[in-house]
Amino acid sequence: MMTKTHSLDMQAYTKPRRDAIESELESVLSKWENDKRVPMILSESMRYSLMSPGKRMRALLCLAACETVLYIKNGAHSESQDYDLNNFNQFNKTVFEQVKALACSIEMIHAMSLIHDDLPCLDNDDMRRGKATNHVVFGEAMALLAGDALILRAVENIIEGTPESVSKDAVLEVIKELSIAAGAPGMVGGQVFDLLKDEDVKRIHDEKTGALIAFSLWSGARFAMKDGVSVATKEQLDALREFGLVLGLAFQIADDLLDINGSAEVIGKTPGKDVASDKVTWVSIFGEDGARKKLSQLQEQGEALLTDHNLNFAPLPVLFELLRFAITRSH
Ligand code: IPE
Ligand code: IPE
Ligand code: MG
Ligand code: MG
Ligand code: MG
Repeated sequence: MMTKTHSLDMQAYTKPRRDAIESELESVLSKWENDKRVPMILSESMRYSLMSPGKRMRALLCLAACETVLYIKNGAHSESQDYDLNNFNQFNKTVFEQVKALACSIEMIHAMSLIHDDLPCLDNDDMRRGKATNHVVFGEAMALLAGDALILRAVENIIEGTPESVSKDAVLEVIKELSIAAGAPGMVGGQVFDLLKDEDVKRIHDEKTGALIAFSLWSGARFAMKDGVSVATKEQLDALREFGLVLGLAFQIADDLLDINGSAEVIGKTPGKDVASDKVTWVSIFGEDGARKKLSQLQEQGEALLTDHNLNFAPLPVLFELLRFAITRSH
């Protein structure tokens, strides 16, 4: 079984999952757009950013963590009907049902963070996901309000869209942890340290980027249920959160490098902005070589974490591959 570790076809794994996430986002948005109380221009602004072409990395991490712990739970019994061990690329719809609302809500929070991050009072960017930024199209006031609306829709969507099979305790705990990860001790606080050019770049990155990524993995596992009972162990949940911080830091360091070496066509944003704005990044503190060295350390650290906690066993080494993607990505 272990020899299959590197045989996972990531394209075959991610494509149906990304498509399912896109179609769930589309169906939630369409439902909301039928609500006559919502101003049409607000819906347009929310749709513009939420549906523009993102990698959907956080949603995929959430789903992958859920699948991994369920797979491990079921994997001991290869006759299990719940997960087809011989066809792990096949998309398991039952698993997706458990986390689809959560995964979409994480993308809503992420979209909000990008809209606000691009505002003139923060990074002042005019290109995002290969298109004009939200405030360039809709104006600053609407961009601000679309972000506000996305935060609250994200919470509503978890409550509304999570099936009965997920316990209410899990739903409450996930909403609390999301508020922390995206809020003052997490992403918002990290954006403040970024704004203030704090010297502790690890803290900036852990909070502005790592917190939501770590939450994505932790919460996906937290929502993994079998016969109404939580599947993930405390050890798995802790390890996934720790792995998420490793992956999140790597993801942001890769972003810092792409700002220097990427082209606008590939990264879909204006490169060179970090130097122009005198940002504190891993590259500004440790140089490009220092950033690359850190990425390879983080890859080793992340892989070791997965191995030590048996979260990477074949034939579903998807977290291993997602870490590799976060580090080697071109956009
Ligand atoms: C951009 O995130 C913001 C960072 C934390 C670096 P992504 O690179 O995941 O953006 P999309 O969603 O794919 O556009
Ligand atoms: C993004 O950091 C952090 C967020 C919470 C959005 P960056 O400012 O480096 O992200 P990009 O490069 O604009 O995507
Ligand atoms: Mg920023
Ligand atoms: Mg930015
Ligand atoms: Mg950046």
